[in-house]
Amino acid sequence: MKFLASLAVLTTAVMANPVTRDTNQFHLKTAGATNALHNDLYVYAYHTGAGLNDAVLDKDDTNAAPFYLNGTSALATLGTEFPWGMSANGDTNYASWEPIEINAGEGSSGFSIDNGNFVWSEADGFGGWLVCDWSHNAPQLFYLNRYYQPTIPSSCSTAQLNAIYIN
Ligand SMILES: *[C@@H]1O[C@H](CO)[C@@H](O)[C@H](O)[C@H]1NC(C)=O
Repeated sequence: MKFLASLAVLTTAVMANPVTRDTNQFHLKTAGATNALHNDLYVYAYHTGAGLNDAVLDKDDTNAAPFYLNGTSALATLGTEFPWGMSANGDTNYASWEPIEINAGEGSSGFSIDNGNFVWSEADGFGGWLVCDWSHNAPQLFYLNRYYQPTIPSSCSTAQLNAIYIN
C-alpha cells in the first residue's frame, strides 16, 4: 500500500512536470581516449580566480560539476545564485587547442548533446575534445580547433565526453 502510494506521488510528479531532458542535470565523463588513464574522468570546476575555473578532470564523481543546457549554453550549478557557463576560448592566438573554462556568467553558446555525446559547435571551430596532463597536476579539458592540424603531445589524448544524467 505504501509502495503504491509513493508510486502515485511519483506518477503525479512526472505528469505535472513534462520536462524536456534539457533541464536535467548531467555530469560530463570522458570515454574513448587511447590513454586509459584519461577515461572515466569527470569534469569539475578548478578554481583559478574570482569567477574563474578551469575544467579539470578527476576519477571521483563527488566533485563533478552538475551541468544543464539552457539553449546552447552549458551551465554548471556550483552552489551560487548565478550560473557558471562553460567557456570555450575563441581562436585568438593561432593555437591548435584551447582550454575549456567554467566561469561566472553564461559562457559560450554552441553546446549540445548528440546521442549522449556532449559537443561544441563545429561552426565555432570545435574539432573534438582533448585531455592533457596539465598544469594543475591533473588531466585538464581542452578543445581542438578544427581549422588546424594538431601535433598531439604524448601527455594528451583525444576523447569523447558523455553526458551522464544525474536526476
Ligand atoms: C537561459 O537563457 C535565457 C534566454 O537566452 C536567458 O534569458 C536566461 O537568463 C538564461 N538562464 C540562465 C540561468 O542563465
